[in-house]
Amino acid sequence: MEKLNIAIDGPAGAGKSTVARKVAVELGLTYIDTGAMYRALTWKALEQGIDLNDEVSVGKLAYSTKIRLIRSLEGSLRVECDGLDITDKIREPAVSGVVSTVAAYPAVRKRMVEMQLAMAARGGVIMDGRDIGTQVLPHAKFKFFLTASLAERARRRWLELVSLGFNPDLQELVAQISARDKQDENRETAPLTVAPDAAVIDTGGLSVDEVVNKIVGLVTGNSE
Ligand code: DC
Repeated sequence: MEKLNIAIDGPAGAGKSTVARKVAVELGLTYIDTGAMYRALTWKALEQGIDLNDEVSVGKLAYSTKIRLIRSLEGSLRVECDGLDITDKIREPAVSGVVSTVAAYPAVRKRMVEMQLAMAARGGVIMDGRDIGTQVLPHAKFKFFLTASLAERARRRWLELVSLGFNPDLQELVAQISARDKQDENRETAPLTVAPDAAVIDTGGLSVDEVVNKIVGLVTGNSE
């Protein structure tokens, strides 16, 4: 029997990765953070001084880059790019500011989706991103679309960055996230959209555990 897969999509800062990581631990699934993969490639392109507007060069880079997501026992993920641990580097504002440009290129998406499908081949995964329920795992048994207001999402990103030792400006984050939303929603290839069979959860005003419990309840059939 095919093992259960769960797709979690939504805009930046909706709480997808925190929630998905916890659901993975509760249900014994493998967590795959696809945003981290686009970020890893973006980091490498910046490192190599590649012009991000040069679609061909960025597309080629995607095919010559090895990205691995390595799970630790407590459920956190390390991100490796060509054998180098870049877990913290991919969260830097320099990467966040331009990752949408890289993620919009069809060749990049094709390569990332190939890698994602290989990771999901044995089933039993919870994958988060923008196109998981619509493109990557259209047959996933459960699909969720997490959302929250722009102000709330920016506040969360602010807290996340502060906890990583950065000193972000809240208003700048609002502008950056809003720009990223627009780019992700309006790109031609696999734009951010709600899959018709996804359950939409507004995470504003809910704690992480409340969202996790809601999802676990729906998946296991124990929702009240
Ligand atoms: O979830 P995140 O903020 O780490 O995602 C980083 C960027 O990658 C974001 O601009 C959207 C893009 N992305 C995507 O296009 N498709 C995915 N499956 C995951 C992320």
